Amino acid sequence: MASVGTTKVAEKYRQYRPKYPPELFRIIMNFVRGQGTQCSNSNSKYPLAVDVGCGPGLMSTVFLAPYFDKVLGVDISESQIEQATLNNKHRNVEYSISPAESLPVEDNSVTLIQVATALHWFDHEKFYRECDRVLAPGGVIAAFCYSVFITVITERLNSDENMAYKAKTHQFVVGRYSHSEMEIPYPESLRIDDFYFSVKSTIRNFFHFYETTSLAKNFLKEPEIQGWWESCKKRLMKAYGTIKHRRSVDIQI
Ligand SMILES: C[S@@+](CC[C@H](N)C(=O)[O-])C[C@H]1O[C@@H](n2cnc3c(N)ncnc32)[C@H](O)[C@@H]1O
Repeated sequence: MASVGTTKVAEKYRQYRPKYPPELFRIIMNFVRGQGTQCSNSNSKYPLAVDVGCGPGLMSTVFLAPYFDKVLGVDISESQIEQATLNNKHRNVEYSISPAESLPVEDNSVTLIQVATALHWFDHEKFYRECDRVLAPGGVIAAFCYSVFITVITERLNSDENMAYKAKTHQFVVGRYSHSEMEIPYPESLRIDDFYFSVKSTIRNFFHFYETTSLAKNFLKEPEIQGWWESCKKRLMKAYGTIKHRRSVDIQI
């Protein structure tokens, strides 16, 4: 995924991408506890979690810190790991450049593999083979994804002849990970479809966030699209009844 490989992109991720809510991590940890895996010691923490495709870490990785002795965030992008390391304030969180398909951890050592808005990028066969290797007995894979759609853009993409915009990864996200290729191939699983959260932002920051999505980046960077996108933004602001970019908005994700 070369498009996330620049310092500028990693910095925008850190600035504009919303953090997942703590409630999500509580749900995940309840599932982990339900597997009967032993905590490592009297502090009731599990030994190791790996957040794969962690990006700058602040949205997903750090939320696991209270539950594990060690949390390792890995990402294939050097600049994402650079951002993550720069902003790391947790003693028990570390970051490392690594592909999802070859994780830098020992066999049977991981209690939780977390994947936040990244599973659609992986080579699934290789990734699950790697999960089989590293997960401890009773270990869990938790994958989730958010997606924000702006109807005018989706409509324009759907009417566009250029199939490049209809990448498979985009279809996985639009389909809310229900495509058979996105199924987690483990016998005991829990799928939650109705988890939403609300983010307070400004119109300006919402546009910045939207422009970090790969769909928007691939589509909106085209010079002939940029004027159209600017007019869409104006229409969206009109729909909010404002001309102020700093007007606050609630976004459901
Ligand atoms: C949409 S971002 C999500 C970042 C972060 N988890 C979040 O939720 O904000 C997807 C991340 O997956 C990483 N990625 C893509 N393919 C990968 C792979 N094969 N192995 C590891 N990381 C990968 C990208 O570099 C990018 O940082």
